[in-house]
Amino acid sequence: MEKILDLITAEVTRAFTDCGYDEKYGKVTLSNRPDLCEYQCNGALAAAKEYKKAPFMIADEVAEKLSGNAMFAMAESVKPGFLNLKLAEDYLADYLVKMQADEGRYGCGKPEQPKTIIVDYGGANVAKPLHVGHLRSAIIGESIKRIGNFMGHRMIGDVHLGDWGLQMGLIIVELKERKPELVYFDESYDGEYPKEAPFTISELEEIYPTASKKSKEDEAYRDAAMQATNELQHGRRGYQALLSHILNVSVTDLKKNYDNLNVSFELWKGESDAQPYIPDMVQKMKDEGFAYMSDGALVVDVQEETDAKEIPPCIILKSDGASLYSTTDLATIVWRMEDYAPDGMIYLTDKRQELHFIQVFRCARKTGLVHENTMLKHIGFGTMNGKDGKPFKTRDGGVMRLEYLLDEINEEMLKKITENQKAKENLDISAEEAQKTAKMVALAAVKYGDLSNQASKDYIFDIDRFTSFEGNTGPYILYTIVRIKSILNKYHALGKDETGAVIESAHSASEKNLMLELSRFNAMMENAFEESAPHKVCSYIYDLANAFNSFYHETKIMSEENETVQKSYIRLLTLTKSVLEACIGVLGFEAPERM
Ligand code: ARG
Repeated sequence: MEKILDLITAEVTRAFTDCGYDEKYGKVTLSNRPDLCEYQCNGALAAAKEYKKAPFMIADEVAEKLSGNAMFAMAESVKPGFLNLKLAEDYLADYLVKMQADEGRYGCGKPEQPKTIIVDYGGANVAKPLHVGHLRSAIIGESIKRIGNFMGHRMIGDVHLGDWGLQMGLIIVELKERKPELVYFDESYDGEYPKEAPFTISELEEIYPTASKKSKEDEAYRDAAMQATNELQHGRRGYQALLSHILNVSVTDLKKNYDNLNVSFELWKGESDAQPYIPDMVQKMKDEGFAYMSDGALVVDVQEETDAKEIPPCIILKSDGASLYSTTDLATIVWRMEDYAPDGMIYLTDKRQELHFIQVFRCARKTGLVHENTMLKHIGFGTMNGKDGKPFKTRDGGVMRLEYLLDEINEEMLKKITENQKAKENLDISAEEAQKTAKMVALAAVKYGDLSNQASKDYIFDIDRFTSFEGNTGPYILYTIVRIKSILNKYHALGKDETGAVIESAHSASEKNLMLELSRFNAMMENAFEESAPHKVCSYIYDLANAFNSFYHETKIMSEENETVQKSYIRLLTLTKSVLEACIGVLGFEAPERM
């Protein structure tokens, strides 16, 4: 379906050309004076110069041309030369009827040429617990992926595990201290290794921090860990076998954690998967003259003439020949192009990694790892801070683990839901349902609290505010959906049926306002996709929920006596619910039946 703003612009443009003016003056925008009109066109002001006429005269002519046009209830020229527009009620209703008939998409067409886009998010590090820093990547990445899928593109999520660093050597060394008898450490052993891992996830989670602490205090220990990392990376059999145990145990646990966040990945690749691609890639960069030795390291220059500040060369290999984070990211681009030939790759990390991605992207483009038109985009997000404005910590000052954070919010949400239940005498909700609902609402609170901010901004994680049923919060949005569901249930429980009925022209100003919001859904979604901006979906559903709630408070829906009008209301509610649900779907959470 065409976007309503495009349809309006086309109509106004025609009026301009009919009056002898250039089509470029017909552009219509949303009104910035909603008290006066719904849409506006400022083209007459711009045209005045070219046609040497008073803007008001031009606006008058165009308004005259539009009078009687079925699309508008009002097309008015206002001094000094604005064109103020209001849509005709039945035109708007007709647009919503078509939207409703377009089940599942509600006016968002499918692209003629769907794009394949890899979204690199999550970025968990194996054997290290997930902390709140990983939360943003998971939440924002999942939403960007879902927005793309909704718009009809082929989005592929890759968790890109950190499974190739010093943490592996640290775990190996610590394990060796504790259980030196394990066959993995016997270099002369050439049999098969056990299938069962020599540790559980809780042991693994304890081993890493212990080893990390020791390595900071004990130089010999640190050297041993570096040595082990090096041997692992050069293919020592026993260590490789340990690596795959660490991976298996860790990934099983990570999947559970991501599941709880309603986040899932198509690909569970990691830094280690890129390693086989490094030697050929490096050779090619050398052969083609891009890579050269500088201070012992192999580098590729990525500075561009237009740069205001210095962009240091991208380091491909360290002086000891070891690969780095940038090497891995470049080699990852190689296999992604080989296996998926994507039209683009989007990366979600903390914005402090911005320079890294500038270097990697420029290097990839310069050395021909990607095509000229392959989109490479880094979305750097800000820090999640506590109420004190400092990075979020546990009460005793440690790094907050994701599970604890979610537990805390679940608890808070359960408290609020139980209070609400008592207040509304909804006492038939079982403890089990309350718990399940609390979990759903808590997830919405966390995700909405994060996604409603522009990603690049730091934000304050405020449990009280995020879990509130009022204001710009996830629970408020869910509450609105639950309210609609409850009206629809009541209506149907009376044995009534609205099948076959359609949305009629608005019966009131608040209803028209709700309809106008609904009609903007496809344009909003397209824009959120193009700009990889879930916060646009949030601000849209906040407006939509407000428009619905005003309509709800001013309208007697269940006691409406005219059956046709009531059916039209029910159809409108159904569409509102569908659109809200499509939106929270792409944000990555769901609404309960009641709360
Ligand atoms: N593991 C990294 C971290 O914890 C994030 C990885 C992001 N993805 C990438 N391709 N570099 O910071």
